Amino acid sequence: MWGGRFAAGPDAIMEAINASIGFDKRMAAQDIEGSRAHAAMLAATGIITDSDAEAIREGLLTVLSEIEGGTFQFSAALEDIHMNVEARLKALIGAPAGRLHTGRSRNDQVALDFRMWVRDQVDAAIDGLEALMRALVAQAEAGADWVMPGFTHLQVAQPVTWGHHMLAYVEMFGRDVSRFRDARARMNESPLGAAALAGTGFPIDRQMTAEALRFDRPMANSLDAVADRDFALEFLANASICAMHLSRLAEELVIWSSAQFRFVRLSDGFSTGSSIMPQKRNPDAAELLRAKIGRIMGAMVGLFTVMKGLPLTYSKDMQEDKEQVFDAADSLMLALAAMEGMAKDMVAQTEALEAAAATGFSTATDLADWLVRALGMPFRDAHHVTGALVAMAEGKGCDLPDLSLAEMQSVHADIKEGVFEVLGVHNSVASRTTFGGTAPARVREQVATWKERLG
Ligand code: ARG
Repeated sequence: MWGGRFAAGPDAIMEAINASIGFDKRMAAQDIEGSRAHAAMLAATGIITDSDAEAIREGLLTVLSEIEGGTFQFSAALEDIHMNVEARLKALIGAPAGRLHTGRSRNDQVALDFRMWVRDQVDAAIDGLEALMRALVAQAEAGADWVMPGFTHLQVAQPVTWGHHMLAYVEMFGRDVSRFRDARARMNESPLGAAALAGTGFPIDRQMTAEALRFDRPMANSLDAVADRDFALEFLANASICAMHLSRLAEELVIWSSAQFRFVRLSDGFSTGSSIMPQKRNPDAAELLRAKIGRIMGAMVGLFTVMKGLPLTYSKDMQEDKEQVFDAADSLMLALAAMEGMAKDMVAQTEALEAAAATGFSTATDLADWLVRALGMPFRDAHHVTGALVAMAEGKGCDLPDLSLAEMQSVHADIKEGVFEVLGVHNSVASRTTFGGTAPARVREQVATWKERLG
């Protein structure tokens, strides 16, 4: 493409380090769509003739069908997807192909292709998240009043409902969706027409190509347009936060499916056996999901490290932007689909959940609250009295509701029979009716809200 200036071809090692076709061929569809929009605009503005534009359009469609059909011969000597497509176009249609690159550079071309590719992934991530959220909402609806232990420090804290726990993740994934939407709105400006870096003297119509390619507007600064990779970084940052959420849920599934907990049974479809221990059911999918954050966040750190300190505008360093984003996007989509599958299939073990909910003096706070409400005790004193009752139960090796009224009155004489009404785990969760609380009634309201939002 630049043979005019060079007497000799590149060294083989130079070709190996320089070529990106091995990975950037994934942007073929975006490259061809961008070129078609550019060619149509060049004709509409009179920069090239309609017949040349038509030849280019048809040729590009042929190239696309060759790539999609797997018959296209990719060449490392042609470096990247942009030059591979253009060279094939030339072979197919001859001279008019040479006019396609008028008023354009590979710098704005690659910025465009990559931005469109990432934009598609943002849409796919939102779809994947919403499918996962639907599965979790279904779990929440089924188990709005199943009690389970709520944990802090992985120590039993207070009883909560299964539905409430599922909806906590729905909130987290809902924020992920909103982050991806925010990022999409910010990235939805077209770099095409920035040319190499300074804009072009040809009377191009950047508004027209931006609209054709479904962007809100052209980017306002040509230097920024070719130098910016914020859209990819934001995608990776959002993907990292989402993967972090996935890893937390995955970790809970690993713990919950263990013999020590038995809170949940993962389906055969998402478990594996052991080659030596016949009894084993391993939560491999959950473990792999727990690990995916490593690759995704690694990609984010990798691209930050590539971009930091680069002077404006384009530097070849930026060719190192793609592989990690591709890998992170693939990992994220797979992780979302796997979590959706697990969330759909998993079966809560309601008896084990309920039994566990009552352990660890989980209704001690309810008891303290009762002392405040029924006896008018200051909360700090109630906390102290409850502590003494917990110590007594612990000493006797029983749970709080197993203490007799007389035993309780030996700690505080005013305690009455009514105290037992707040000690059961169902009473406990039913009483937490504040907005955002775990009461089944509140959970059902949130389920209804999410069903409405998710459609
Ligand atoms: N393959 C290149 C990349 O991915 C395309 C842009 C090349 N631009 C250039 N001035 N050499 O970044």
